[in-house]
Amino acid sequence: MADLDDLREGKLFGVGIPVAQQAFHVKGADHLSWGMKDRLSRIFNPKSGRSVMLAFDHGFIMGPTSGLERIDLNIQPLMEYADCLMCTRGILQTSVPPTVNKPICLRSDAGTSILTELNDNVIIDIQEAVRMNVSAMAVMLAIGDEKYEAKTIANLYNAVDQGSKYGIPVMGVTAVGKQMARDARYFGLASRICAENGANIVKTYYCDGFENVVSACPVPVVIAGGKKLPELEALELCYKAINEGAAGVDMGRNVFQSEDPAAMIQAVHAVVHESITPQQGYEMFLDLKKK
Ligand code: R5P
Repeated sequence: MADLDDLREGKLFGVGIPVAQQAFHVKGADHLSWGMKDRLSRIFNPKSGRSVMLAFDHGFIMGPTSGLERIDLNIQPLMEYADCLMCTRGILQTSVPPTVNKPICLRSDAGTSILTELNDNVIIDIQEAVRMNVSAMAVMLAIGDEKYEAKTIANLYNAVDQGSKYGIPVMGVTAVGKQMARDARYFGLASRICAENGANIVKTYYCDGFENVVSACPVPVVIAGGKKLPELEALELCYKAINEGAAGVDMGRNVFQSEDPAAMIQAVHAVVHESITPQQGYEMFLDLKKK
């Protein structure tokens, strides 16, 4: 029964003070549901609007590649420096402590390995994604691949349909077939197709003319790091991408294959969130490496 004694009258109604209109910090997300926005806010820092996603899902295609032989030894120490963790469900369940409490971008499709060409993908059951409390689902699109383009677009469509029911955003991952040019025309096309089909985030690659890729994409674009580069070059890549409109990085090998992965992810974080120069980032990397 409600306690009726000492029932205090409300006084602070703020009459005449309009309710503040809050602009949402994630591109293209203004009209999404509260759950979607909550999850996107866990991934993209509300102050900077950016994200450093640590990608270590490579094993689902490559097996125990260099730097990922032991997730517990190589990747766990880096998790505190990442804004978001991108991995498969197998690694999430076995090797990511739930106590780490970071948003998860779940690799949600499968069907390909380095031993074959692009393959027919399947996607995860949405209930599995909900059970694992993921903040986003990542699904690959093979735009331009005659055999698998339609199937991978269907996978994205399906993931978006399912994600929408439960407020889980979807990240479209643009795969580059061997026959595709790695240029702004191709990445612009592939990124836009991801967004048109409902992706809330697009992961693609940096290229000349990248600002056009970002400009024509109505949702945030994050870049993959690609093959291992010398540390300064990798920081230059992050800097250029951010300066040309990327909302962050989804970086793997250039972090976990670095001479000092913990120092590298901290330098990447500073370039992405604090807009320090690549040279400053490199000095930070060297300083942290010495310690
Ligand atoms: C690509 O589909 C993989 O899922 C990786 O997550 C992605 O390529 C990012 O990793 P890296 O920076 O090593 O390219």
